This record gives sequence, structure tokens and C-alpha cells, in this order.
Amino acid sequence: MTDGYDDESYDATARIVDPGGDEEERRIEAALRPKKLADFPGQPRVRDQLGLVLEAARRRQKPPDHVLLSGPPGLGKTSLAMIIAAELEQPIRITSGPAIQHAGDLAAILSSLAEGEVLFLDEIHRMARPAEEMLYLAMEDFRVDVIVGKGPGATAIPLELPPFTVVGATTRAGLLPAPLRDRFGFTGHLDFYDPADLAQIVTRNAGLLGIETTPQGVDEIAGRSRGTPRIANRLLRRVRDYAQVHGAGVLDRGAARAALDLFDVDEQGLDRLDRAVLEALCRRFGGGPVGLSTLAVAVGEEPDTVETVSEPYLVREGYLVRTPRGRAASAAAWAHLGLTPPPDTTGMPQLPIDEGGGRFGD
Ligand SMILES: Nc1ncnc2c1ncn2[C@@H]1O[C@H](COP(=O)(O)OP(=O)(O)O)[C@@H](O)[C@H]1O
Ligand SMILES: [Mg+2]
Repeated sequence: MTDGYDDESYDATARIVDPGGDEEERRIEAALRPKKLADFPGQPRVRDQLGLVLEAARRRQKPPDHVLLSGPPGLGKTSLAMIIAAELEQPIRITSGPAIQHAGDLAAILSSLAEGEVLFLDEIHRMARPAEEMLYLAMEDFRVDVIVGKGPGATAIPLELPPFTVVGATTRAGLLPAPLRDRFGFTGHLDFYDPADLAQIVTRNAGLLGIETTPQGVDEIAGRSRGTPRIANRLLRRVRDYAQVHGAGVLDRGAARAALDLFDVDEQGLDRLDRAVLEALCRRFGGGPVGLSTLAVAVGEEPDTVETVSEPYLVREGYLVRTPRGRAASAAAWAHLGLTPPPDTTGMPQLPIDEGGGRFGD
């Protein structure tokens, strides 16, 4: 796997309304990324917290604490990492957990960092264990042990590093080992966006892409994007296609509705996988509870995809609950599918799914 934020081969949202997942997509995504914290709509808590951390660092003229960004795919983690570097006026080095399979890969990157540089580690929970251990040391003491030679004669030569800032991103903060998590001075948890924030994003991006819209057309897209800017951007382009082929080129409510129906995005914004999960839960498992891996097999997806992509939104919208014995459908899920629930689906104990809001770690 190659370095770089634009490698989306492990991005599970790529499957959503995305026939290509192509070069153009990545180019447009990069062009649409907000460049400054002030231009970043939504996530007010994380934005304020991050603003404070960055401003304090600027005043001290020292690199800020390491920052961890967690949350489902497509909510703006990579964008925020780039904004952090831009706000600090520092270069950013971009790599990802899957690209670091050996401690040596990381040592090479760390030993070439300049003072104050931002090191963005995407999908940080997928880094190899020995590299993780090297990272603890580097983050805490700004030191890396370079191993010279092989076998019993190998020696570790400690190398001092200039102070730098790690920005880690993860869809699975719960998978990070505690020692690594503890080395981040600030953790920002990104949550799904409100339709109003998404409408603002869609309007801005339509403007950047030269697409004429009506407010109703924008609202239709914003309301059906699963609270996710990346999906909003994709839907925007599919609706534009539709408007250009079938309409007068204006993205209005009619074009939005027709296009979203064509791409299997329903009125509540649930996509094919979301509905498949609910269908399997209700029709095959009587509403659950059922284990994650059983559920994933039933819908023909990886458990990780069901857990990081579909589940957070279904839980947040109240269709699915996590119980000690597995996933269960709520009354809303049965209603959404037009089915009658068995009498005992209410009062299911509910467990929180996320790792908590943005917070200062200590
Ligand atoms: N707050 C936001 N405002 C505008 N666009 C956003 C915002 N958050 C994300 N996006 C857009 O959504 C897409 C995905 O964002 P990205 O930062 O890559 O998400 P993540 O890294 O969390 O998967 C990008 O094209 C970006 O422009
Ligand atoms: Mg990303």
C-alpha cells in the first residue's frame, strides 16, 4: 500500500454511490477540502477545542500537543489534519497505518522530520505493533532508537528528534492500545453533521463546482447524506449528472429526488447496506440480538465495514441498538421496513457506541 491521504483503498465509504472511486473523485475531494479552521462548517466543539490548542501553541511558539481525531469515515479527519498544518504554517507529512508495516518504515519517516512538522498518521489503529512502540517513544521523548546491524550483534543507537506534532486519525479509537492513546494530548471525536451544516457544505461545493442549485435541491441532498460530508459531495455530483442529462442543468428538488432514488438512497438517507443490515436483523434474526460477525456474513460484508460504516449511523438514528448479547433492531427499524415487530422489541438495554465526545486526554 502506498503513502498518502488520497489512497482510499481502505475507505469503506467509497462503495456509497460511487461507481468509479476514481482519480477524478480524489482530485475533486482535494479541491473541496476546506483550508482553514474558520472555513470548516460543523463540529463546533472539536473546532473550538482545536482552535484553542493551536492558538496556545502559536503563542508559545512551540509545536502543539499530539492530536487524535476519531470518528466514522468521511467526516473530515483528513481535512482537519491538513487544516492543522496550514494553521500552524508547517509542512505536513502524510502516511497511514497500513503503509507502516515495519518499525524501520516509521524510523525513516521520523528521522527525517523537521522541527515543528506535522506528521499525519491516517488509520493509525492499523499500524504494526513494533512501529507502534517506536511511536510511543518518539511522541513522548522525541527520540527514536535506530537499530544498526542484524541478529545478536545489532545495536540500538538513540537518535534525538526535533519536536514535531503527530496528528492521528482513526475510525476505531477503541482499538488503539491505551499507551498510544494516552500520548495524545487532545482527542477530538467527530460526530455526524446536522442537515443544516451539510446544506452549507453542499451549497459551498456546488458553487466551487459551478453547479446551479435551488435551496430545496440542496436540502434534499443534505437530508439524505447520512450526516457525512463525503457522501454529500458524492450525491451532489450524482444529482448534477442527473440534472444535466434529464433536466435543465439546475439541481432542484425534482432532480435530487429522482437521482437519489436511482442510486438507492432512501428518504431517510439509508443506503443499500444500511437497509440490508436492518432487513437481515428483522427478517432473518427476528430483530436480534445477533452477533456482529453473523450479521456481517448475512449481508455479505466485512464485520469491520458493518461496524465502522453502517452501524454508527443506524445507532445514532435509533434503528439499531447494541446490547450485551449483540445487535438488535429497534421499533423504528421495523417501522422503516414496513414490518410489524414482535411484541418484545421495546425496552432493550442500550450501550453507547462511541468513545465519548471531543475531550482533552490526560
Ligand atoms: N466540515 C467539512 N466541510 C466541508 N467539507 C468537508 C467537511 N468535512 C469533510 N468534508 C469533505 O468531505 C470529504 C471527506 O473528508 P475527509 O477529511 O477526507 O474525511 P475523513 O478523513 O474523516 O474520512 C472531503 O472531500 C472534504 O472536503
Ligand atoms: Mg481520511
